[in-house]
Amino acid sequence: VKGKAKKAGKIAKKVESGAVIGAGIMGGGIAYQSARKGVPVVMKDIAQPALELGLNEAAKLLSKQVERGRMKPSAMAGVLNSIVPSLDYEAIKHADIAVEAVVENEKVKGIVLAEVEQTMKEDAILTSNTSTISITRLAEKLQRPENFCGMHFFNPVHRMPLVEIIRGEKSSDEAIATTVAYAAKMGKTPIVVNDCPGFFVNRVLFPYFFGFNMLLRDGADFQQVDKIMSKQFGWPMGPAYLLDVVGIDTGHHAVEVMAEGFPTRMGKTFRSALDVMFDAGRYGQKNGKGFFQYAPDRKGKPK
Ligand code: NAI
Repeated sequence: VKGKAKKAGKIAKKVESGAVIGAGIMGGGIAYQSARKGVPVVMKDIAQPALELGLNEAAKLLSKQVERGRMKPSAMAGVLNSIVPSLDYEAIKHADIAVEAVVENEKVKGIVLAEVEQTMKEDAILTSNTSTISITRLAEKLQRPENFCGMHFFNPVHRMPLVEIIRGEKSSDEAIATTVAYAAKMGKTPIVVNDCPGFFVNRVLFPYFFGFNMLLRDGADFQQVDKIMSKQFGWPMGPAYLLDVVGIDTGHHAVEVMAEGFPTRMGKTFRSALDVMFDAGRYGQKNGKGFFQYAPDRKGKPK
C-alpha cells in the first residue's frame, strides 16, 4: 500500500486545503484528522449545534494529544484554528478536496454533492464518505463525475487506520490518486476498491452482524455476547457496542443495502434486531440510547 500511495503521489493533485460537509460523528472526526496532519479544513453543516459539537470534539482530542506529550501546548490553538466552521458554502470555494459526510440518504447526498460541486473550483476533487451508496450512482448527478470517488473512513476516525477509496465507473486516475495521497497525508492507510454494495469492509463486517442477530433471535443476551467478544475473545468491542458507535440508523440502512445487494447471502432475516431498535428511536451513542445508554455528550462507555 505504501508503494501504491507513493506512486499515486506522482499523478495526485496538490491538496493544501480541504472541506468537510457534515459535522457529525464522521465529519467532525475527518476535519480533526485533516487539521491535525496539517491540511486546514472548512467544516460545513446546516446546524450550528453540530458545528459546535464537532469543534468541541476536536478540542478534546487535541487536549489528549497534549496530555500524552504528543503535541506541544502552543501548537494546539493553531490546529484548532485550522478547522473553520461554516453554515454556508462560500467558505469552501477554494478547497482542493471535499469529503461529503452528511446523513446516509441518497437523495440528500445527491443534492449536497451537486451544491458542493457548483461551489468548488472546476478541478477540485469531490469525495463521499458514504458507507453503502453506489459511487457510480451518486456520480450520475454530477457535472464532473471524473473528479468524484468514495473516501470511506471508519469510526472513530482518529483511531482507525484504514480508508477505502472507492473507484466509481467514471472516477479518473487523478481523482483516485489525489484521494489516496490525501488519505496518506492524514496518516491513514488507503486501499482502492471497486464500487459494489458494502465495498470491502462492510462485506466482511455485515456477515458478523448477521451472526449476532441470529444469536439474538435464538435467545442470546446481547450483553453477554458483547462481553464474550470483547473481554474474553479480545476484540476492542462487542457487536452491540460497535453498532451503537456506528449508529443504529446508519447500520439499519446499511443492512437494507447489503440485503438488496446480496439477497441470497444476507436476506431479510438479518433485519429484525436493528428494525426493533430503529423503530424505537434508539440510534446508539448519537442520541444517548442504543443497545446501551450513554451520557448526553454521546461519548463514553455504555452505562
Ligand atoms: P451524523 O448523523 O452523525 O452526522 C450527519 C451530519 O450531517 C449532521 O451533523 C447533520 O446536521 C449534517 N447534515 C445533514 N444534512 C446536511 C446538509 N445538507 N449539509 C451539511 N450538513 C448536513 O452521521 P455520521 O454517522 O457522521 O455519518 C455521516 C456519513 O458517514 C454517512 O454517509 C455514513 O454512512 C458515513 N459513515 C458513518 C460511519 C459511522 O460509524 N457512523 C462510518 C463510516 C461512514
